[in-house]
Amino acid sequence: MDWIVDRPDRSVVVMTGAGISAESGIQTFRGAGGLWRNYRIEEVASPVAFGRDPKLVWEFYLMRRKQALSCEPNPAHFAIAALEDWLESGGGSFFLVTQNVDGLHLRAGSRNMVEMHGSLLFSRCTACHQVFRDETVYEDYPPHHDCPAGGILRPHIVWFGESLFPGDLERIETELNRCELFIVAGTSGVVYPAAGLAAHARAMGKEVVCVNLEPPANVDLFDRYVEGKAGEMLPHILFPAEEGTHDSEG
Ligand code: OAD
Repeated sequence: MDWIVDRPDRSVVVMTGAGISAESGIQTFRGAGGLWRNYRIEEVASPVAFGRDPKLVWEFYLMRRKQALSCEPNPAHFAIAALEDWLESGGGSFFLVTQNVDGLHLRAGSRNMVEMHGSLLFSRCTACHQVFRDETVYEDYPPHHDCPAGGILRPHIVWFGESLFPGDLERIETELNRCELFIVAGTSGVVYPAAGLAAHARAMGKEVVCVNLEPPANVDLFDRYVEGKAGEMLPHILFPAEEGTHDSEG
């Protein structure tokens, strides 16, 4: 078997996108049934949109918060969490960067990771900038923050036109610089800076592997491209664990 990660002493970075959570029942963004077929990015996912119509923006994110809370991690999330355990106990290293905001990697047990586009399960005050876990599905919105500055809350999401959270890109690049293998799964490869990381890794001589349902925009960059559903493929091709140990609760 040609495992993607063949030995537990490897240093590996994994990057995931919406395709990883598709089998959990979370909508992807592009393609048939994707969120951007029914919503316009500039109306629901930008600071300008929030300034213009915070109610509409919150409606979009509350719908997605509710969806994320009702879904469960799938075998792809569990396989990635199990890979982290395997590498950690085998002298290797692991880092996960996800573009997903659904919190499912954390619920599956991934630890050394960054949610580079934020999280549906956190909110942030627009006045005092406090960030906190928030699973409330508000009925009245935009919600107000109980702080002296009297701000309103916004989803803790990186919107189009915004930079990543301070330190995140540096941390991702540091991890990429020191890894041997970069695995990219479930992403269309069109949103930057995430989409540029495979080229960055390749330019540094790393092995780059892609697992996706269909060829992503940057498919030519990869040393190896494996086509299929992440939840069906990853438990069987990611690393040589005993069959069945990482396709359920861990
Ligand atoms: P996309 O919706 O653009 O792409 C999802 C990719 O996953 C597509 O290439 C699908 O073919 C693939 N896919 C679907 N189901 C799959 C499965 N079961 N197994 C494997 N692959 C599957 O989502 P992202 O690339 O994550 O940003 O989108 C990137 C960013 O664009 C998101 O983080 C979001 C969005 O606008 C923000 O909101 C800031």
